[in-house]
Amino acid sequence: MCGIVGYLGPQNAVDIVLEGLARLEYRGYDSAGVCFKNERQKLEVVKKEGKLENLISELKNHTTSSHIAIGHTRWATHGIVNDKNAHPHFFDEFPHVSIVHNGIIENFHEIKKDLESEGIIFHTETDSEAFLGLLAFELKSGSNLKDAIVSAFKKIEGNSALVVINDKSNELFAIKKSAPLVCGKNSKTNNLMVSSDPYALVGHVSDIYFPEDEVLCELKINGESTLKFFELDGRESRRFLHKIEEGNLEVSDKGHFDHYMQKEIYEQPGLIRSLAQKYLSDKGLEGLKSVSEFRPSLVHISACGTAWHAGLIIKNYLETVSKVPTVIDLASEFRYRNPLLNNGELGLFISQSGETADTLAAQELCKKNNLKTISIVNVDGSTLFRDCDFNLLIHAGVEIGVASTKAFTLQVLTGRLYAQALAGEINKEKVLKDYSLLADRIDELLNNIEKIKNIAEEISNNKGYIFTGRGIYFPVALEGALKLKEIAYVHAEGYAAGELKHGPIALIDEEMVNIAFIGPELYDKTYSNLLEVKARKGIIVGIGPKNDQKLSESCNYYIPLNFEGLGDLAPLYTNVVGQLLSYYLAKYKGTDIDKPRNLAKSVTVE
Ligand code: M6R
Repeated sequence: MCGIVGYLGPQNAVDIVLEGLARLEYRGYDSAGVCFKNERQKLEVVKKEGKLENLISELKNHTTSSHIAIGHTRWATHGIVNDKNAHPHFFDEFPHVSIVHNGIIENFHEIKKDLESEGIIFHTETDSEAFLGLLAFELKSGSNLKDAIVSAFKKIEGNSALVVINDKSNELFAIKKSAPLVCGKNSKTNNLMVSSDPYALVGHVSDIYFPEDEVLCELKINGESTLKFFELDGRESRRFLHKIEEGNLEVSDKGHFDHYMQKEIYEQPGLIRSLAQKYLSDKGLEGLKSVSEFRPSLVHISACGTAWHAGLIIKNYLETVSKVPTVIDLASEFRYRNPLLNNGELGLFISQSGETADTLAAQELCKKNNLKTISIVNVDGSTLFRDCDFNLLIHAGVEIGVASTKAFTLQVLTGRLYAQALAGEINKEKVLKDYSLLADRIDELLNNIEKIKNIAEEISNNKGYIFTGRGIYFPVALEGALKLKEIAYVHAEGYAAGELKHGPIALIDEEMVNIAFIGPELYDKTYSNLLEVKARKGIIVGIGPKNDQKLSESCNYYIPLNFEGLGDLAPLYTNVVGQLLSYYLAKYKGTDIDKPRNLAKSVTVE
């Protein structure tokens, strides 16, 4: 979703902001823009619909030697995708201030209407411009900039992060409510930065600060660089988390792979091995022990998309391994269904980014009801990480592909460790052996992808795709279908195999593909479901145990797998087949695999 970057310091601000925006491209966007203070000390705004390249080529017509700039990648919510609706927002008739915004101003309509009656003219269809209008109105009425920002901020409703640049001083201001924001500073180089994502700051700052809600951040150069935080009443604030950038955040590149998604699929075996080593070290075991000291009477899992699918498998582990009753919700449903939350229960939240608005809201609801909260999360220092009582990091490294792959695998494996810790059952040697067996099997699979590639090509023009599985393979079916639809733009559905005959079987004909995950558990039942599809001339891609005569005869395409010894880890192995099929099918279709249309990596609005 929208990405924000601001820079203030001795280097070329526009270059650094553009570099930051390029790093945030993975989040998904449809237009981009920058505002900088030009040589005449005037604010200059350049913004363009489409990819960052469009903005970069337009900037060639401008002199951009500036030391202060803000930039934005927009993922449209209010108003169509065009140059005008892109950020930064700026009024030609009041050219002293400009803003970038991430989030939604829910009362923008009322604000715009009121301000129009005061003579403010709006130029875009965006909600964000309402904040600029409020700011302009305050400044015109004589307020100083800081007071104007605070007053405007108090009037907006909804979740937002905002950065403000002005033409009078070398200062940037930033403020947020329930939206990601991070500031950074390097006292040696005098670099100051602000962003919606720490990834934009890598290499430029040494100290990172995560401000809490309603804290005004002031980035200022006046001889030396200063970064200060204020409460809305003007008192200096300590409400922020300070971290030293220890070089943990790497800037990822594709290496020899064609896409980040492909690279991230291939990273899985190595990451599985290192996750096991991290959690089974003395420090890791200590952490698991302290998280599992609290034994809940009921676990409420909330998550979205792929993380929700991971949650479905984790629910299974919690119930079978730890014997703890568990319910799971899509985070966007949880908060509005008035869940019964009682003392002694636990909220468990799964998220790659740790910034998903619905998941954060679910966490907040649990917190308000005095439940203990735990995250299974990738981004250290993210909002979810900061808000939960305990965190289990999945250590997946930066995930750039919008389609989540490695995060899913590591979320499930981290959840499994938690379930075992709750059961008091962590046998270090056994877990290391199991995780390394899984990694080996995935390695083997990744070294033999020709067959999967060919199948993907052969089925790439079919009418639709129904993924099926039973038990712990049902979430894999859901995940396979989600992956395929999001990157190949084809119609795909995931179903519990036993559910087909309750409706979806009506879709089966010789044009419909059934991608069937068949594990050793419930084999006979799942095989019968497959025969029902075959009887209706559906095309079957069977992903099941190797050397299986029945599958080899009944399926149009058969992908044999070695399930031996994998037990309840097998779904993760089969899931990699789903990832590869989706990846290659999308490749044949020629879609934008890493940045699929309409999608954002981090969904920071409800
Ligand atoms: O960052 P999160 O894990 O909270 O994101 C949740 C979903 O938005 C995410 O998994 C989404 O479904 C992916 N694009 C799926 O590949």
